[in-house]
Amino acid sequence: MHIDRYERNFIGLSSVLLVIFFLAVTVGASANGIQVPRPELRVDPKMVATPGVYDGFGDPVEERVRELSPGKYEAYIIAQAWKFSPGSTNYGEPPITIPAGSSVTFYVTSKDIQHGFKINHSTDPSRNTNISFMVLPGQVSKLTATFDQPGTYYIVCYEYCGSAHHTMFGEIIVEE
Ligand code: CUA
Repeated sequence: MHIDRYERNFIGLSSVLLVIFFLAVTVGASANGIQVPRPELRVDPKMVATPGVYDGFGDPVEERVRELSPGKYEAYIIAQAWKFSPGSTNYGEPPITIPAGSSVTFYVTSKDIQHGFKINHSTDPSRNTNISFMVLPGQVSKLTATFDQPGTYYIVCYEYCGSAHHTMFGEIIVEE
């Protein structure tokens, strides 16, 4: 079978690119500690906030950030248009407050539609975390971050979720 020289070159180049991309993802994931959020649990979005149905999410908001052992926390956060509960102080929710040096495992799900969940430092982009994932109704996403230095961090919704999407953010206060 005759393959045109240009076409053969193009197939070769595409194959080399695929290998490079595969290596970039593999090396990036192992060298930079990239965590891939996977569905931790399936939940019914209509029932997720109902007390007693799902461990964590149905508890009162003040109890959804808990210390498991010294310096190790877990946080159960429910997203809905347009707030994170807990987190969104602009909608009357408590902030997430932890001492510096803590590692926090976030369990996040949505009660309504798709939202984004990205944790940035309030002023210093070099201190942004590598946490960034979509929040989907019916699914619990889970990732862990460590907050070594005191300061304020913002949880930012980066998926367009309606007319007040730009007001959807949460606050993490890392104390001395
Ligand atoms: Cu929630 Cu945008």
